[in-house]
Amino acid sequence: MNGHPDLSAATAVAPAAGRAAVIAGVGSWVPPRIVTNEELTRYLDTSDEWIRSRTGIARRHVVDPGVGTAALAIEAGAAALKSAGGGDVDSVIVATATPERLCPATAPQVAAGLGLSGVAAHDVAAVCSGFVYALNSAAGQIATGTADRVLVIGADAFSTIVDPMDRQTAVIFADGAGAVVLRAGSASEPGALGPCVLGSDGELAELIMIPGGGSAQRSTGQLPGPDDLWFHMRGRDVYRYAVEHTSNAALAALDRAGWRPADVDCFIPHQANARICTAVGERIGIPADRVASNIERVGNTAAASIPLLIAESAATGAFDPGARILIAAFGGGLAWGATTFTWPGTLGFGD
Ligand code: ACO
Repeated sequence: MNGHPDLSAATAVAPAAGRAAVIAGVGSWVPPRIVTNEELTRYLDTSDEWIRSRTGIARRHVVDPGVGTAALAIEAGAAALKSAGGGDVDSVIVATATPERLCPATAPQVAAGLGLSGVAAHDVAAVCSGFVYALNSAAGQIATGTADRVLVIGADAFSTIVDPMDRQTAVIFADGAGAVVLRAGSASEPGALGPCVLGSDGELAELIMIPGGGSAQRSTGQLPGPDDLWFHMRGRDVYRYAVEHTSNAALAALDRAGWRPADVDCFIPHQANARICTAVGERIGIPADRVASNIERVGNTAAASIPLLIAESAATGAFDPGARILIAAFGGGLAWGATTFTWPGTLGFGD
């Protein structure tokens, strides 16, 4: 691996004795506008066949002009709060790589939009691994007694940062949001979150980045040009790191939870690319029929990808109470993370 050290599972945090984080509600939202592969072929040098065979994506949802990440996050957050039976939370965490602005964070705006002004609110910036990192932050708030209930949202509007003429990225990334309400409970009850395994490798930051607009550029006195503000990804180089780190993080999370791959009822990998998800499932020994997928319908929604798939699966009754679920993510940073939880089975959905 280019002489890089093995950073597969750099940090593994055991749950604090006493209070564990327990899932109390889930929700999701995608914007109504659907863009098919065929629509992309009207202005991009690509084809439906290439996109489907190389990524598994057939269509995706994108925001209308004027709609940013906060609107997506508020919809998903409201759905999760409703599924948790309503009530307040003490903290709102938004994982996103497409904040409304560079400054301030988007989470306070989301909290206010949900009628939760006054609660703790902050963003987590770990690109596609942001939701797993945010779950870990929320679990920490619960374990230390900072919060009794936390709303964790993964939301991204990648269509706003992807160059529509870059066929490498424009065919993959899309918009959406997913959310989970965590409450204080015990590690032995259904719905309890297991230990999180988190890691990063900043030496490979240049593989996935928006190069301009931040302090690195602005400290030179230079203002960003248009190309500096687009999202850039060296997809082929990223691919093998994605399989390797997602697999290793998933295996480490299973180990920390005391589960074997055969114990997993449902594996929810970050929906980066259907080929990556299949390869990770094979590598860690989880049969394809236990690997959840919605990338065909929604594309890669970055920080939203895992909670969106959790909420969609839950809404269709895919999880039995007590089901053992593994999630694992990888993305820009590079950063990766994985964790486990059981399914509580008592959540509300829909109207
Ligand atoms: N349509 C048609 N042809 C294309 C397209 C397209 N949309 N995009 C690239 N090609 C061409 C390339 O130019 C190349 O042509 P060449 O052989 O003549 O040079 C050929 O297709 C193959 O290109 P590759 O880049 O090797 O294609 P690959 O099979 O690797 O698929 C992809 C590209 C989908 C980006 C893949 O590499 C990938 O999924 N990478 C990992 C992405 C990932 O995991 N990212 C991290 C998470 S996301 C985040 O953090 C925000």
